[in-house]
Formats: sequence, structure tokens, C-alpha cells
Amino acid sequence: MATDPLTKIAYKTLQQGKSIAGLAHKEISSRLMNLISPDKDLKSFDIDKNLLIDIQKSMDALREEDWKDYEENIYPQKLLFDEPWLRYLIQYPKVWLDMPNTWERRKNQKVNDLPKSIDKDNYPNYYLRNFHHQTDGYLSDFSASIYDLQVDILFNGSANSMRRRILKPLKEGLINFNDRKNSSIKILDVATGSGRTLKQLRGAFPKEKIIGLDLSDSYLKEASRHISDLDGDLIELIKGNAEDLPFEDNSLQGVSCVYLFHELPELLEKKF
Ligand SMILES: C[S@@+](CC[C@H](N)C(=O)[O-])C[C@H]1O[C@@H](n2cnc3c(N)ncnc32)[C@H](O)[C@@H]1O
Repeated sequence: MATDPLTKIAYKTLQQGKSIAGLAHKEISSRLMNLISPDKDLKSFDIDKNLLIDIQKSMDALREEDWKDYEENIYPQKLLFDEPWLRYLIQYPKVWLDMPNTWERRKNQKVNDLPKSIDKDNYPNYYLRNFHHQTDGYLSDFSASIYDLQVDILFNGSANSMRRRILKPLKEGLINFNDRKNSSIKILDVATGSGRTLKQLRGAFPKEKIIGLDLSDSYLKEASRHISDLDGDLIELIKGNAEDLPFEDNSLQGVSCVYLFHELPELLEKKF
């Protein structure tokens, strides 16, 4: 596909801008928090210059790969520029207001600070914690409402380009079902969270049946908001546990899973 060099410059500028914004936010916020509530255990150390160069190189490689996949028609251009700016604007003050709580939790190593109202019997043990020190873990509407921005800051603006890495292998794998109608192909996104991956999947697979599954009601509600205005068939959302998927054998043709495995205990990883 012949692409417009200006669009590529716009894409790279957007990614670099987000990367700088993410880094700046982390630097400013941790300095400020440490000023207000000093953490005596927090040690600063010099980062090896070569490590920084390597990180920069992998970010550049990620952007190149993202662009190449778009040029190969794996997904439409609109995905490259799909950023919820208005939502981020609303979420940003909330992220700041939440920061003292996150900081204190991290400082005091409080990892099970969850809403009192939750029924712990409904969740696996490993799930009942504050992943990445986030307020309420995955168990509140508040947590779900700021998740997208928090993740994008954590990954220096590359959360969506990393999510898109699943699309090419999925397209390649689904070639095995070329004899079927696209509308009979089912793709499941396990631990779909706030639904950002579902949006990427719908962009790349406009006709296929897409299902998102997650354990968190709050995150599923957030996902429902994200996908409600998408073109194409309705995406199905299911509350369920990835350890015990409610699907018949061979009933799915594609499965994706983004940003979940690093949060699972070792035993579960082996089971998968
Ligand atoms: C880091 S988030 C990733 C969300 C999403 N995939 C994304 O790209 O942002 C992890 C998600 O996994 C979900 N989760 C964790 N353990 C799960 C399980 N056993 N079954 C279903 N969902 C689970 C959480 O509720 C949360 O929404």
C-alpha cells in the first residue's frame, strides 16, 4: 500500500509526544510525592546510558512494526490515531487526585487494600490485590474509569501499539479458516479489561464475531462504554474466569490475551 509520508510523520510525532508526556508525568509525580511524603526506602540510582538507548531503540522498533502492519493492511489507519483525548482529559485530574493513595500503598507495601463491599468468594486469591498499587485493584468503577490513562502513562504512550501486536499473528492463524464465512469466525479476548483490545480487534476483523471476557464487573461496564459506538455486529461481553472458560472445545477460532500473564501466579502460568 502506498502511504502518505505526512501521515507517517504525524503518527510518529503522536507516539513520541505521548512517550515524552508519559515520562514527564512519572518524573514530576514521583518527585512531588516524595517531597510531600518522603519514602526513606526509595533509593535513587543512575540508569545505565546503554539501557536507555536500548529502550529507545525498542520503542522505535515498536513504532516501525506498528506502521508496517498498517501498511500491510493488517488494520485500518484510524486505529493508529484512535486516542480518547476527551476521556484522557477527564481522567487526568483523577489520576493526580488518586496519586497520594497509590503512593502511600506502595510506600507501605499494602497490597490487599480492596473495597470492603466485595464478596471475596467470587474471585481467585491472586486476584484480590492492588495490582501495580492501583486503588481498589480491578474491583471498582473508579479503578476502571482511570485504568486506560494509567496504563498508557505506565507504558509511555505505547499501550495501544503494543496491544496491536496480536493482530498480525491472529490474521495469519485465521487463514486456516479461509473456507468459512467471516461471520462464522469467533474470536475471544480473554481478560479484556476496559475493552481497548476489543476496539483494535473490531478494526482488524470487521465481520467476525468478537467476545470479551473478564472477571471484573466494573471493567466490563467500562468496556461496554468503549465499544458501544463501534461499527459492525455487537461485541459480546461475558463475566467469567479465564481459568474456567465457558466455551465448548473447538467453538472458538481465535483467542487473544493482552497484559494478563504477568499478573498471574506462577502455578497458573504453568497450567496455561
Ligand atoms: C492488566 S489488565 C489487562 C486488560 C486488557 N487486556 C488491556 O489490554 O488493557 C488485566 C485484566 O485481567 C482481568 N483478569 C485477571 N485475572 C482474570 C481471570 N482469572 N479471569 C478473567 N479476567 C481476569 C482483570 O480483571 C483485568 O481486567
